[in-house]
Amino acid sequence: MKIAVFASHGGSDLQAIIDGCREKKIDGEVVVVISNNGGSLALKRAEKAGIDRFHLSAETEGSADALAERQLAVLEEYGTEMVFLAGYMKLLDPRILERYENRIFNIHPALLPKYGGKGMYDMHVHEAVLAAGEKETGVTIHRVSPKYDSGEIIAQTKVPVLPGDTPESLRERVLAREHEFLVEIISKIAEGKY
Ligand code: GRF
Repeated sequence: MKIAVFASHGGSDLQAIIDGCREKKIDGEVVVVISNNGGSLALKRAEKAGIDRFHLSAETEGSADALAERQLAVLEEYGTEMVFLAGYMKLLDPRILERYENRIFNIHPALLPKYGGKGMYDMHVHEAVLAAGEKETGVTIHRVSPKYDSGEIIAQTKVPVLPGDTPESLRERVLAREHEFLVEIISKIAEGKY
């Protein structure tokens, strides 16, 4: 399965996917990485792994429309069969959602539908989970629809919230789980289970 990964920042989820493919835990290959952030660690990780990568944004391409066209062209050029959003902070254009319908997935660091939606990303999620006094949180992998963090949930795993947790310690525990879970679920996607 030819996988295209979109990532905006640290790219530790991207790294887990790359490693999972290289260790043959996933029957697939990351063929291209696209980031809206030219200075992202995600792009550096792709470079280090020898994977083709593109910094594409409305600024680099001149408009949102041109960006969508270029993203589509890159996805096509690499024969993309599945798109994974691993910490990508932008919405994808409806043309891309349509072209890769049911083949675009996102990972979210909470048990959706709780703690999802616009503005609920990264530390904001973990802060909200702690503020609500939750005893457990988790990870969700879902298909991508035109609204933030909606679309069919295909898999979830729970992560405990421990006494004394800070948003940082919770983020670290959830992220570590994400890295294992991604490999597990993407390998199932590659086998055609989702
Ligand atoms: C993860 O928590 C993921 O669930 C969310 O963004 C974060 C990405 O982390 N969508 P990284 O950039 O892969 O390290």
